[in-house]
Amino acid sequence: MAIILGIESSCDETSASICIDGEIKSNIIASQAIHAKYGGVVPELASRAHQQNIIPTVDQAIAEAKISKKDIDAVAFTRGPGLLGSLLVGTSFSKSFALAMGIPLIEVNHMQAHILAHFIEEPKPQFPFLCLTVSGGHTQIVLVKNYFEMELLGETLDDAAGEAFDKTAKILNLPYPGGPLIDKHAKLGNPKAFKLPEPQIPELNFSFSGLKTAILYLVRDELKENPNFLQERMDDLCASVQDRIVTILLNKLKKAAKQTGVKDIAIAGGVSANSGLRSSLLAMGEKYNWNVFIPKFEFCTDNAAMIAIAGYHKFLAKDFVGQDVTPMARMEM
Ligand code: KG4
Ligand code: ZN
Repeated sequence: MAIILGIESSCDETSASICIDGEIKSNIIASQAIHAKYGGVVPELASRAHQQNIIPTVDQAIAEAKISKKDIDAVAFTRGPGLLGSLLVGTSFSKSFALAMGIPLIEVNHMQAHILAHFIEEPKPQFPFLCLTVSGGHTQIVLVKNYFEMELLGETLDDAAGEAFDKTAKILNLPYPGGPLIDKHAKLGNPKAFKLPEPQIPELNFSFSGLKTAILYLVRDELKENPNFLQERMDDLCASVQDRIVTILLNKLKKAAKQTGVKDIAIAGGVSANSGLRSSLLAMGEKYNWNVFIPKFEFCTDNAAMIAIAGYHKFLAKDFVGQDVTPMARMEM
């Protein structure tokens, strides 16, 4: 039997999870509401909140899994990428825990973990599969060859898809994080109401900064004519922004599927919670005969279950790290 404690602290979610023999028994997430009033994550405040939250979060994860601390066989933690001050809290906690309990330590790459969230529950994709990983910090198309061999086929050249949602939401006067709010308004709006540009970026790469500028100018010009423009057209604006972001993402995913011939297609990361992306991907999958894999909402945004499941597979491979390990703000796939 293998019991893994997973720890996630890369951004503004403190999370702990217990995985027993590949099955997630608990997944506790402490979100940090404090950042909303600043319009984005404040790194110093995030580190402090992680420090406050980590012990209660771990205690709760252990209690909910109905095990005791001494049953744990290894601790897996997010080494990067992420905010260094945030990562330091999870890393230091994990090193201390492993040292005190005399158990192995497992480092996990946060972006790989988002992808490995697909192995938490059935149905699981078959290797090799393609994964579009879309979060607040990353937008990547990855060819997943096995649990730990992943090839980056394309990525964003500027903003991430989540950033595109959050930054346009800010222009529309919506609070942070704006992604879920755009999603909510978009359900009531017309996606073709406003024409927004699709950037012509080579290969399988992305760019979202032009979209942000287009929204900024559109809103600025319309507000001159009608001071109530935002209130009156919010649903249509959100639907148009979301439609554009989703089209940019899915057009590249379609290209990647064609280039590789791979038919198992997955999405991962916070933006994969987006209802427009989920339904358009399902429709595209039907059209092109893909096997589409979409994680449950709770495993899309940052969580420790994905760290624990990644840790479980590394545990089986005896892929451990020493006490000299340090977090990395930037970390390759
Ligand atoms: O993966 P994640 O939780 O954290 C990072 O590793 O970045 O992703 C957070 C991002 C934020 O930009 C948030 O606005 C976006 O995911 N997001 C959404 C939705 N839910 C979360 N974007 C669009 N629609 C949603 N429903
Ligand atoms: Zn993430």
